[in-house]
Amino acid sequence: MLDQVLATIDQRRDASLAQLKEFLAIPSVSTKPDHAPHMLRCATWLADHLKFAGFNVSIEPTNGHPIVLAKNRHEPNRPTVLVYGHYDVQPPEPLDLWTTPPFEPTVRKTEAGTDAVYARGAVDDKGQVWAHVEALTAWQANGGVPVNITLLIEGEEEIGSENLEAFVKARKDDLQADIAVISDTNQFARGLPAITYGLRGLCYCEVFLTGPDHDLHSGLYGGAVPNPANVLCEFIATLHDQDGRVNLPGYYDDVRALTETERDAWRKLPFTDASFAKSVGIPQGSGEAGYSALERKWARPTCDVNGITTGYQGPGAKTVIPSKASAKISMRLVPDQDPAKVQAALEQALRDRLPKNVRHEIKWYGASAPVLVPIDSPPTKLALEALRIGFGTEPTFMREGGSIPVVGLIKSVLGLDTLLIGFGLPDDRVHSPNEKFDLDALHGGTRTAAALYAKLATRSK
Ligand code: BES
Ligand code: MN
Ligand code: MN
Repeated sequence: MLDQVLATIDQRRDASLAQLKEFLAIPSVSTKPDHAPHMLRCATWLADHLKFAGFNVSIEPTNGHPIVLAKNRHEPNRPTVLVYGHYDVQPPEPLDLWTTPPFEPTVRKTEAGTDAVYARGAVDDKGQVWAHVEALTAWQANGGVPVNITLLIEGEEEIGSENLEAFVKARKDDLQADIAVISDTNQFARGLPAITYGLRGLCYCEVFLTGPDHDLHSGLYGGAVPNPANVLCEFIATLHDQDGRVNLPGYYDDVRALTETERDAWRKLPFTDASFAKSVGIPQGSGEAGYSALERKWARPTCDVNGITTGYQGPGAKTVIPSKASAKISMRLVPDQDPAKVQAALEQALRDRLPKNVRHEIKWYGASAPVLVPIDSPPTKLALEALRIGFGTEPTFMREGGSIPVVGLIKSVLGLDTLLIGFGLPDDRVHSPNEKFDLDALHGGTRTAAALYAKLATRSK
């Protein structure tokens, strides 16, 4: 039967791409309050396609954007697969850097000479969600999906999945499954598909400093009052030591050391620090001393400023001591760091390191735990087989530096491990202008998803 399903997928390539373009044309930017109608329209569009494929679908309201939930008819003697994805996308700005507009999906050649569809959300995560929807639709046209499917597609991943926890807890029984599957990660490289077995966690905050109670003339007051912009920069400068290590109390206490086996395996991957640096236009990388770029990205924690706001930002000069300064700071966490402990450590550093004549406040934007999933489990082996069928080549194992908040939730609330089987490529420019999804990756991913459902069906409950 799988052969017929794969044949259906191959025949439908162009039709499927045309539908994906419709999905991509909806500007489902979750962070923009005025885009709420587009969010609902996007959820509805997706729900309609799943209904057409014969699923029972509901659009579930949350305190934020709606969740699309879809199921086939569950049969007691078959394994249940929880498939997660997100239909929300990152803001497309800056718009002038897009070759074609972010919500006018366009197929053209990549720098590598392959064909790709360019649009915001092409690979993160609408294109990958679509690979699953297309695979499920093909199964439905060929006798039905051979496993029980629960599809959970949310609209708030890019803003931290803050309303998902309440939903998953409230609907725990409804979401019970034997395995979770997420396609929201990458292949290691073009021609080298992969299972991702680790993700970093994330703590993200905004720090607000206030010095004088109003902006001051920098000549009349400068030198005699604290300048919160200077103070903020001084604080930020304390966050790393000479060796590129994060300088927060106890920060490395719970960091699990890399094993030599893992380091050896990563050294064998087709990757050099030099070409990595070149791919982002820098003469060389930087970071914690004693680690390679892959090790730094996949297995070592960070502390990064994501934005600074203070003082005069308009054209030309203005002599001013700003009253306020703020910074958005993220920390990527690795096993076995605890987000709560890391948050406490940053707050401690603020109390200890800021001068007493500058007040501070801190706002946290959710947290997500680091993830490691077992690579020798039976589902992982089945996923490798699915990738072989889908892409016709031998896959590898990798970790990633990014975060997917729901994975920790699936483990803690539902008790499930997640298969991270992603189809993106490192040059897809996720979150950046000119995001794209290679058409071969889309097609191989769709075939892989179809094969995965067949493989998982062979597992007893
Ligand atoms: N899909 C990405 C994360 C990702 C991309 C993991 C590529 C591995 C490979 C996800 O949509 C994402 O952007 N996550 C955010 C999390 C956040 C907004 C809570 C991240 O990592 O910054
Ligand atoms: Mn994503
Ligand atoms: Mn993302």
